[in-house]
Amino acid sequence: MENVTFHDHKPRALSLYDAVVSGLSRSDKSIPPKFFYDQRGSELFDRICEQPEYYLPTVECRMLAELAGEIATLTGTGRVLIEPGAGSASKVRLLLDALRPSAFVPMDISFDYLKSSARDLALEYPWLPIHAACVDFTHSLPVPREVPDGPRLLFFPGSSLGNFNPGEAGRFLRLVHRTLGDRGMMLIGVDTKKSEGVLNAAYNDAAGLTADFNLNLLQRMQQELDADIDPDVFEHLAFYNSDKGRIEMHLVSTREQTLRLNGHRFDFKEGERLHTENSYKYSPAEFIGLATENGFSEVRHWVDDDGLFAVYLVGAV
Ligand code: AVI
Repeated sequence: MENVTFHDHKPRALSLYDAVVSGLSRSDKSIPPKFFYDQRGSELFDRICEQPEYYLPTVECRMLAELAGEIATLTGTGRVLIEPGAGSASKVRLLLDALRPSAFVPMDISFDYLKSSARDLALEYPWLPIHAACVDFTHSLPVPREVPDGPRLLFFPGSSLGNFNPGEAGRFLRLVHRTLGDRGMMLIGVDTKKSEGVLNAAYNDAAGLTADFNLNLLQRMQQELDADIDPDVFEHLAFYNSDKGRIEMHLVSTREQTLRLNGHRFDFKEGERLHTENSYKYSPAEFIGLATENGFSEVRHWVDDDGLFAVYLVGAV
């Protein structure tokens, strides 16, 4: 395949081991959500996206398919398209024919997964130069040197911004701003605030896939770090915290136990929580305020008819 190249920018960011040792040493135990995404975690996330309760991808994809032409009119064609956290790169397929980018730069922390999805994409879009980069986008957005010059468009769907706390989200937007440079634009999908019933169901799907995704973190600790831990004595917990405007995910220890890891001991009381993810929800006014504070101006935004999800096109100023 001639139209795909691979770039390992394997970041010097926190390893799973460091994250587990530092996160479990705190009184409020926590591990950053990026550690969900090994091969199995990425596959589980793709299956979550097919669950009826997890409305985000269905609504966003419907919107992107309908809006592709309008978006292309606003952005113009021929931009370098960059997608942090691209995973299976399924959503970008809805835009490629309309946007006709000069190159596509999918970035993901899971390199094996990224390689196979970039190869599939290269077969489907032989006209598109693809530069797939293994990147921890929570840390940096290194664009490979081979990528052509020209105006850039960063595509950040799926409400992944919600997995940053508000301070981190601001830092990320400033990083995007620096990466975009002159005439850069960002197309971003962000989940809205809505009824707690809808939100709670989305993170507690009946098939139990979100639970498996959450519990997979413990399997990673066992398999990759040789941690002495029994995943069966943890339970998945996800709920909307309306004060903070976010879904919180935790792993709850169902009994008193000790996790042992390379000479470290971490004691869990019965009912103690390990905080694994926040997923912030933004009203359009909140998101536009955040984007404006961090160097962007609104070009246009769209909310679906049921108010479930929003897509924003913003320009770097
Ligand atoms: C990737 N991210 C936007 C998802 C979310 O909704 O916060 C991750 C997820 N966690 C549980 N279900 C999906």
